[in-house]
Amino acid sequence: MKTKIIFAPMEGVTGYIYRNAHKKFYGGINRYCSPFIPARAEGALPPKYTKDILPENNQDLEMLPQLLTKDPSQFIHSAKLIHEKYGYSQVDLNLGCPSSTVVSRGRGAGMLDDIDALDRFFDEVFKADGLPLISIKTRIGISFVSEAEDLLKVYNRYPLAEVAVHPRLKDEGYMGNVHLDVFDMFYNDCKHPLIYNGDIRTVSDFENISKKYPDLKGIMIGRGLLADPALAEKICGINDNTDELQKLETFLSYVYDSYFEVFKSEKNSLFKLKELWANLSTRFADDKYKKSLSQIKKSKNIAEYRAACTMFFNI
Ligand SMILES: Cc1cc2nc3c(=O)[nH]c(=O)nc-3n(C[C@H](O)[C@H](O)[C@H](O)COP(=O)(O)O)c2cc1C
Repeated sequence: MKTKIIFAPMEGVTGYIYRNAHKKFYGGINRYCSPFIPARAEGALPPKYTKDILPENNQDLEMLPQLLTKDPSQFIHSAKLIHEKYGYSQVDLNLGCPSSTVVSRGRGAGMLDDIDALDRFFDEVFKADGLPLISIKTRIGISFVSEAEDLLKVYNRYPLAEVAVHPRLKDEGYMGNVHLDVFDMFYNDCKHPLIYNGDIRTVSDFENISKKYPDLKGIMIGRGLLADPALAEKICGINDNTDELQKLETFLSYVYDSYFEVFKSEKNSLFKLKELWANLSTRFADDKYKKSLSQIKKSKNIAEYRAACTMFFNI
């Protein structure tokens, strides 16, 4: 099986503007995912989120929309809407978001706290007619790795199209080592096509996971791709003969212009770019980059930002 490379959903970052820019400049991604969309039990999806899944904003790329809810009727209504109105054949459920505002309302990773309620959620969802394929993106528990076994039993009871696993607990946020021993259990016992997600930052990280788990349907990468938008190209051996930093500079400039075109606000567009730089800068730890990276971070307007970028890219 050829393992797919999937760009992880990242709320506030991998919306349609960034997604399309990435696709325009970089190859290697088989699928992009929408950041979570809060589901609704009736009517349309919130307008801000509708934009993200409109087919015209996702041309020429595979995109998997993701819903956030603990309420089966909200999930059913929203999944059907996404399927019927926007034409998506699969919808994902977020079972991993660890943020306190999400978890305190029993959503995202909060749904892993009550296995019986999770079981009832799927029971109700899978009784509904007319749904698209349903997949999940999950963590392995709330506080203890021992929780993972019961979660997997629930997942195995339902006809899920795919299970993407980020092998960390909700309490671990995004820090510490991933629990590959728990992922082993999913690899051996999960009945559904399986996707690995977590801490892939280099080509060799990708190769190690592909070798250890040769039958994965996909490997999903989040922060590693923000830090190095060319990571999937490097994994696939795609080389378009352009200088890597030159291409990054042109890409970032295009991303800024794309945000500006939609936001019509220098401040908001710059904020988005600084978020990207927070990830990009993790790859440029050498002292020689320190000054320009700090100026990018401190820049108050587009002129200051551009001057700092010019300094960075001319080192
Ligand atoms: C800023 C941020 C936003 C995220 N938003 C989402 C989201 O909307 N849906 C989701 O399933 N996961 C979300 N995640 C989790 C990522 O998809 C991914 O599981 C996590 O970053 C681990 O993978 P990585 O080590 O490759 O980054 C988010 C993570 C971050 C850091």
